[in-house]
Amino acid sequence: MIFTVAIDGPAAAGKGTISRAVAEAFGFAHLDTGALYRAVGAKGGDPVQAAQTLSPEDLARDDLRTLEAGQAASRVAALPDVRAALVDFQRRFARREGGAVLDGRDIGTVICPDAEVKLFVTASAEVRAKRRWAELGGDYDQVLREVIERDMRDAGRASAPMRAADEAVVIDTSDLSIAEAIAAACAEVRRALPQG
Ligand code: DC
Repeated sequence: MIFTVAIDGPAAAGKGTISRAVAEAFGFAHLDTGALYRAVGAKGGDPVQAAQTLSPEDLARDDLRTLEAGQAASRVAALPDVRAALVDFQRRFARREGGAVLDGRDIGTVICPDAEVKLFVTASAEVRAKRRWAELGGDYDQVLREVIERDMRDAGRASAPMRAADEAVVIDTSDLSIAEAIAAACAEVRRALPQG
């Protein structure tokens, strides 16, 4: 079965947690596409070349989850040639046999406009900053500023900006528990699965 679940949304809205849980619940493969951009940003040097030569080792670095890596990812992600270098890999992953969940910013709009399920997972900037801050520590006001700065860059760029696809189901996790958010996402997948 070819079946793609596209999960887009801003930083720290719960995309990663929801995507992993959906993949596990339905036995689908999962690709965190933010990790591709984080790895390109962390690699340094010419970002287009870094994107063209990205290796499994680049994706296995243990410094990809930091705030700095997130900002660097957001900057290289604005470059059209970087995005172009990563398209084929993501599309092949999306249409692999057995089902796939991809989370990112442009999965439902650009990478996989034919995805069977499109979710846009969001939450208020304050809630997202609190989650990041609980995870990484540091100065809360700075975390909030960085969350807002990254949203503006990701949504404001010309090339594949972050936005909900027209037909995406929006899940606002501001007032949801993790279990409730996962249940909402799984319900959408179940609704779209072929019967029988
Ligand atoms: O989801 P994340 O925080 O790991 O993403 C890091 C950055 O990568 C994000 O700020 C923007 C960029 N990104 C993107 O432009 N397109 C994607 N599909 C995924 C991430």
